[in-house]
Amino acid sequence: MDKLLIEGGARLTGEVAVSGAKNAALPILCAALLSAEPVTFTNVPRLRDVGTLLALLGQMGVGIEREGDAVTLDAGALTAPVAPYEMVKTMRASILVLGPLAARCGEARVSLPGGCAIGARPVDQHIKGLQAMGAEVAVEHGYIHVRAPRLKGARLVTDMVTVTGTENLMMAASLAEGVTVIENAAREPEVIDLADCLTAMGANISGAGSDTIRIEGVPRLRGARHRIMPDRIETGTYLCAAAVTGGEIRLTGAQAASLDAVIDKLIEAGCTVRGEPGVIHLRAPSRLAAVSLRTAPYPAFPTDMQAQFMALNCVAGGAAMIRETIFENRFMHAVELQRLGADIHIDGNTAVVRGVDRLQGATVMATDLRASASLIIAGLVAEGETTIERIYHLDRGYERLEEKLAALGAKVRRIA
Ligand code: EPZ
Repeated sequence: MDKLLIEGGARLTGEVAVSGAKNAALPILCAALLSAEPVTFTNVPRLRDVGTLLALLGQMGVGIEREGDAVTLDAGALTAPVAPYEMVKTMRASILVLGPLAARCGEARVSLPGGCAIGARPVDQHIKGLQAMGAEVAVEHGYIHVRAPRLKGARLVTDMVTVTGTENLMMAASLAEGVTVIENAAREPEVIDLADCLTAMGANISGAGSDTIRIEGVPRLRGARHRIMPDRIETGTYLCAAAVTGGEIRLTGAQAASLDAVIDKLIEAGCTVRGEPGVIHLRAPSRLAAVSLRTAPYPAFPTDMQAQFMALNCVAGGAAMIRETIFENRFMHAVELQRLGADIHIDGNTAVVRGVDRLQGATVMATDLRASASLIIAGLVAEGETTIERIYHLDRGYERLEEKLAALGAKVRRIA
């Protein structure tokens, strides 16, 4: 079980390149199932979750070729429209094969993803939308069985904003008969990136990025080439790592426009942030001001950056209130931060963080992907050495993490 050792105190400076977005790559790789022709994606990050999904697609009969950051998928001869429990349980985003398989094959058997550390993560909206499009769906023995000889366009209104729900239904609607309108759609940049990819494949989609997406189904989708957008959460994570150390960094291959709410909070905390095409430059004060925040669907503050900002607030001047409105159990990093000396009080989905002058290094445990990132941020400024256990969580979503941090001057190393 790998661990990460961090020696606190280094000020992060320099330049690092942002990788392709995990949460754009995952739905876009599944979109390959919609076409009988090969599709090539570039800027695909080398992440554990991407590897897991490629293995899942491979066992369905999808041909896979990887060369550098490019992946070519050939779903011309799908053999098994099945996503088995053993693979889905390790990555719940596997649910993203459901819509494409239903639309392309007319049937699918996908294991219920089950919950994860941050919440129950139900998929009822995915199922409800497919049923509204004429699919027969039965949930038996832990599997979702879908039969849909021909999906029909429908007007879908999701009960809440759901990112992968919007993505699944948009992919299914691409091959449905007639027009589908998704209301209350997720507006995340990753939804737009998927829509751009589907459009390149011949889909007829308008409104992606707004809360109403219109999809006119077409008989088939063709091959295409698409470059994955930059990872805005990786970008935000490195901005926080530099900010907490009073550092100054340049992130290349970044997209400032997808991070407005996060950059606004970093500026409120006292940082200077400048965005040029493809580059974000941040300079931090010696001590940050505490910033309160409330997570909500895009374009509001992203839940995936909540843990990182809790770490910032642990050593900021003043007190901050953090409200998590998306997931029911996304404060597990708090108890680990308290082991480092943080002053955090949790009351339901609200955390009050009072900045302390110094954190003390200790051994802590990663519990989920973004919680792990918050422990790294805290370890960068804690006195002495911090050991982070179970860092396989990190490898799911951050490419070459310790290499990139070390390039910015962090004293970090991985030990098996
Ligand atoms: C996506 O998860 C992201 N994952 C998550 O990133 C992100 O935190 C989340 O969106 C919110 O932005 C990927 O894109 C692969 P939701 P998703 O459906 O789609 C409830 C990371 O760290 N809900 O938008 O699973 C749900 O329980 C990960 O990279 C239902 O009740 O999230 C939650 O409370 C973590 N029924 C809320 O909606 C449903 O059918 C939003 O969830 C679907 C969702």
